[in-house]
Amino acid sequence: MSEVVKLEIDGKVIELPVVIGTENEKGIDIKTLRAQTGYITIDPGYKNTGSCFSSITYLDGENGILQYRGYPIEQLAEKADFLEVAYLLIYGNLPNKKEFDLFKSSITRHTLVHEDMKRFLEAYPFNAHPMGVLSSMVCSLSTFYPESQNPNRAKEAIDMTMHRLIAKLPTLAAWAYKNKMRHPFMYPQNDKSYCENFLYMMFAMPSEEYKIDPVVVNALNTLLILHADHEQNCSASTVRIVGSSQANLYSSIAGGISALWGPLHGGANQAVIEMLDQIMADGGDMEKWVAKAKDKDDPFRLMGFGHRVYKNFDPRARIIKKACDDVLEKLGINDPTLELAKKLEKVALEDEYFVQRGLYPNVDFYSGIIYKALNIPSEMFTVMFALGRLPGWIAQWKEMVENGDPIGRPRQIYTGETKRNYVPLENR
Ligand code: CMC
Repeated sequence: MSEVVKLEIDGKVIELPVVIGTENEKGIDIKTLRAQTGYITIDPGYKNTGSCFSSITYLDGENGILQYRGYPIEQLAEKADFLEVAYLLIYGNLPNKKEFDLFKSSITRHTLVHEDMKRFLEAYPFNAHPMGVLSSMVCSLSTFYPESQNPNRAKEAIDMTMHRLIAKLPTLAAWAYKNKMRHPFMYPQNDKSYCENFLYMMFAMPSEEYKIDPVVVNALNTLLILHADHEQNCSASTVRIVGSSQANLYSSIAGGISALWGPLHGGANQAVIEMLDQIMADGGDMEKWVAKAKDKDDPFRLMGFGHRVYKNFDPRARIIKKACDDVLEKLGINDPTLELAKKLEKVALEDEYFVQRGLYPNVDFYSGIIYKALNIPSEMFTVMFALGRLPGWIAQWKEMVENGDPIGRPRQIYTGETKRNYVPLENR
């Protein structure tokens, strides 16, 4: 017999089924709670609420485990190609050679964006934040592909939308940067790999040859894989919620990009570097900044520290910290920011406040230092996160559609005025 929990409400006992995942995660199925009792649950920030069943990513925050479709992140980060991981997340299995070649060729053939999109780009102010530009440009793609608005189109057409997005995001991201620099746009070159192409479009100039450093390509590949999915985080949940109304995939992803932008989510990578620069400019007194982070009257938080689900360590941060040492050594860069970050990590990890609350460096703590070494400006850091996260968002959207999940529509407990009569303006 399947497990149930008993809940006593207003003297009445009801039974609610227990649901158990393949990794033995347990939940209480409250689908019938309101119908049976008239009660709802309240859980701001959804700290205890599962919003869906998912077979994409498994995450055990207590033990620092992260797996995409069952594969440990450590193995994928070391051995896989980012597009292979994208295929794995979206379609459920690692591709065989034929499947991978077909997938890569489809992505490669759609890297160009419509010339009219360039006119939009040029209209943004030069100091526009590239995340704002990226989100708007991705939403604009839906206007060039109106068939994407039909939720009931054929599977092949849906695949095409997903491939177009993966193909075009690096072009749009690199062009957002070029536009900011007022440098000429570089068109994608389809003989290059995904990561090479992005670096080429970001850093090449028409006037001279651009040599792509394999160390940089490798580092970028690893970073994209580490960011590729993270189950029901703020941006993935946003993509699911927007998509649950049957809004098209482009606008759902644009919503995800906006959610990622915030400094408590993907925007933390930019905030970390700005914080480290600020601490350095202030003389590098670590104790002072750790004390500020602990002071509840001070809005300052240690950026890159803490995570909703990791309360022990973030496995991505471990891999990135090591990659950081490797990349800086291979590129012959001596960045004092890395030393400062390590010192800050040590001071915080020995502090009672951080230990008690399970606050550890997260994926964003060291990623900015690598991006900086790759010459990527800090305003582009969150864009890099978005490039990596795109396959995850797509996989989450596809799963939500295929599972036939209902429209996302939470309830509330109303705390406003009770009924009162309208008062004419002259009597107020
Ligand atoms: N510095 C100082 N105190 C912190 C921090 C921090 N970075 N993070 C959490 N706390 C404290 C918080 O004040 C609270 O203390 P108390 O129990 O005394 O009220 C306690 O730790 C629990 O924090 P919370 O805000 O309730 O935890 P949460 O799960 O709601 O928030 C978080 C998670 C990531 C938003 C938060 O840890 C944070 O703001 N971190 C800094 C921003 C950051 O690095 N974000 C990137 C997350 S990783 C990338 C991604 O996947 O998005």
